[in-house]
Amino acid sequence: MIRSMKIMCAFALMLFIEQIAAEEKPAKTIDESLHILELTVVEQKPLSGPNQEVYLANCVTCHTTRYVSMQPVLSEKKWGDEVTKMVKVFGAPIPEEQAAQIVKYLVAVNTNKK
Ligand code: HEC
Repeated sequence: MIRSMKIMCAFALMLFIEQIAAEEKPAKTIDESLHILELTVVEQKPLSGPNQEVYLANCVTCHTTRYVSMQPVLSEKKWGDEVTKMVKVFGAPIPEEQAAQIVKYLVAVNTNKK
């Protein structure tokens, strides 16, 4: 009985010492763990055109303001299909009359002039 108590005490002491040793490890300084990443800031002013505010209200919830200018030049019909796709496939909540206004904006600004 006494022997097993001694073993238990020795074990507890070992655990205690181990814990102290762990706490004494020097903590990493901020300089060692801090990495500075330089990112390019991209100008995100929307292209100006008719119904710009309708476009901003409906499309930039999912895309950047300049997403349109990254697309190939599309016809009015294709832009119409694109907006319909956003509604039907991706669930964009765009009322029909606003969709037509957005298509006008898209056609006006999507000229490949940045
Ligand atoms: C609910 C989120 C959502 C909204 C709102 C939204 N889109 Fe999209 N759009 C998407 C997703 C998702 C994709 C597919 C992205 C991919 O494939 O990487 C996409 C892709 C596109 C593409 C690339 C061509 C394609 O068909 O994949 C265009 C152009 C586009 N959207 C235009 C628009 C325009 C214009 C509006 C506003 C009328 C709009 N989106 C609103 C989610 C959205």
